[in-house]
Amino acid sequence: MARSDLLLNLVEAEHRGDKQRFRTLVEAIIAEERKKQHHLVADRLEELITTTGSSAKSRYQSPPVTKDGLLLEVVPRRRLADLSLTPETAALVSEVIEEQHRRDLLRTHGLEPRHRLLLVGPPGNGKTTLAEAIAAELMVPMLVASYEALISSYLGETASRLAALFEFVRSRECVLFLDEFDTIAKERADDHDIGELKRVVSSLLLGVDQLPSHVVLVTASNHPEVLDRAAGRRFQIHITLSPPSQAEICRFVERQERCGSSFGVSPETIASAMAGASYSEVEDLLLDVRRRYVLGLPEADLKRITRERLNRWRKHNQKQ
Ligand SMILES: Nc1ncnc2c1ncn2[C@@H]1O[C@H](COP(=O)(O)OP(=O)(O)O)[C@@H](O)[C@H]1O
Ligand SMILES: [Mg+2]
Repeated sequence: MARSDLLLNLVEAEHRGDKQRFRTLVEAIIAEERKKQHHLVADRLEELITTTGSSAKSRYQSPPVTKDGLLLEVVPRRRLADLSLTPETAALVSEVIEEQHRRDLLRTHGLEPRHRLLLVGPPGNGKTTLAEAIAAELMVPMLVASYEALISSYLGETASRLAALFEFVRSRECVLFLDEFDTIAKERADDHDIGELKRVVSSLLLGVDQLPSHVVLVTASNHPEVLDRAAGRRFQIHITLSPPSQAEICRFVERQERCGSSFGVSPETIASAMAGASYSEVEDLLLDVRRRYVLGLPEADLKRITRERLNRWRKHNQKQ
């Protein structure tokens, strides 16, 4: 949205007494200022809306929320192009990125970009990396919720920490990454401490619902079946990151070869030996081969090293 539109909308919201809209607009301004590195203005505005806001807000101010406590900032390094994604997933992710990049245009038409994603799938197939890549493409920081700091043995405390966390991110343009989302968004019906747990889940859902669209929420889960149904519905985009098929392993190996690595055996041989492996396992094995090869030079036999590692992988995985 052009700055003048933002101002007009702000005044209009104030005039109509629409506090919620007013606050959302101020938060959008704060996020914009932060992006321009105008931290003083941003902090001052944030102070103004939190101290003049409702009493509920001041309750969240203690304990003070720090990035280092409830949230860890990760500097995104990996790009979307580094990931092997199915064409459908790649298309969905590009749409979200475009909507975020061009949200000013969307807003002038009364539309908001999508910003709530749920990534599911077994470990090692790119959930964390995809969240990071989205942050890199959007050129915003990735803030990762720290469950160690968030989850207290008192569920009531957990709920208020969650609220504080959401309060903190609202005025920041960022990717908020909630890993192992099922640990905090468990199906309500299956627990003993129903009352308290319900409060945690409610606090979580409230935070998710109220997130402004400049905060891209990426959640990840290896166990989507235990997710609270109401939590699942919140997400505009559901992506499943599955382990690679043999053809996908082949393409992954070929890509590495194009980047200058070689393995002495065909990508098809690696793919058939590693059927069922995750991307991360394939990547680790190829790295292992390269390490052993470099250390074994000058007489290292690349083909032998690769075959030996593949056999070892097969044996290890048959035992399990
Ligand atoms: N789809 C993928 N394409 C390329 N590399 C991948 C992919 N998925 C995982 N990897 C590699 O495996 C590593 C672990 O993946 P990660 O994103 O941590 O998986 P998850 O969060 O699903 O457990 C990554 O650092 C990346 O190098
Ligand atoms: Mg992960």
